[in-house]
Amino acid sequence: MNTLMLVSGGDAPGINAVFYHYARAAARDGNAVYGARGGFAGLLNGEVSLLKPEAAAPWAGVGGSLLESSREPVLSSQDAEQRLKARLDEWGIKGLVLFGGDGSLRHIPPLLEAWGVPCIGIPTTIDNDVAGTELTLGFDSACNFAYHVIDGMRATAHALPGRIFTLETLGGDTGFLALAVADGAGADVVLLPEYDYDENWLAERLREAVRSRGHALLVMSEGVKTKETVVANIPQWTGIRVRDTRLGHAQRGGAPSHRDRALAAEMARIAYAALCDGVRAGVAVVRGGRAALHEGLLAGISASAPDRVLYDFINGLNTDGHSGN
Ligand code: F6P
Repeated sequence: MNTLMLVSGGDAPGINAVFYHYARAAARDGNAVYGARGGFAGLLNGEVSLLKPEAAAPWAGVGGSLLESSREPVLSSQDAEQRLKARLDEWGIKGLVLFGGDGSLRHIPPLLEAWGVPCIGIPTTIDNDVAGTELTLGFDSACNFAYHVIDGMRATAHALPGRIFTLETLGGDTGFLALAVADGAGADVVLLPEYDYDENWLAERLREAVRSRGHALLVMSEGVKTKETVVANIPQWTGIRVRDTRLGHAQRGGAPSHRDRALAAEMARIAYAALCDGVRAGVAVVRGGRAALHEGLLAGISASAPDRVLYDFINGLNTDGHSGN
């Protein structure tokens, strides 16, 4: 059975590892795997080629995506169904593996299901914000990337005390990534787009960290609307110097961690088996800590918010949002 892999939206560490493990599983059965370059826009334009395991192997440990992605909303055009099916017929393709974040996995699979095109989704985003899975591919690597940077910040913070360090993570308009990084790194403060904070509380929390430990670490998500003013105003609010670091897209393009490589291998096998078994719509998810197939669409599952209890704990707040320690 011929199948095709394609990436829609932002890349994430681990995508190339899925390509490799999927192509390997298919090759064992003598099945052909194709890849579309440039997402659905590329597929509709015929940018399709065979993806052999030996070609994917050198990419398995590399970030980004060997098959370029696209955010072009070409599937909403009038003739999209007809053009898509013509392309799939051309190569004898009987099913798709779709890599994408929350937006892609929420909107595209329902269309493909309505058009009768079997599709298994792989949730790939460093933001970890796809409803229906505990973990998205790339999240673990993005946390590790941040820890590497924070470890360096901590070393210099210890060597020359008396400063506040601020770190901005990616995460889109959600704070799951920043919260996990702040927790793992033992940050003094975390700011997320989902929760408001009080400036006086923030200033005192940072001052207290510098007083007691010599430095303070504030982690915030890129989606915090006030992030520029926070960094600019902290010296005035606290009387303490600030050193700011932005991880930017380097955090997204880092190498996949062991956990993401292992998850990639599991998700690849789940997606391949599902298409071979005739599943028409599904997503490889993590539930109860284990990779599994979610049969059907994710469309009906509502989004959650970052753990408020953990947010309060890191920030030393009582659950009512007031200072607790
Ligand atoms: O959704 C993944 C993500 O990396 C976000 O963390 C970030 O806000 C966004 O994509 C960046 O998108 P772009 O590559 O279009 O700048």
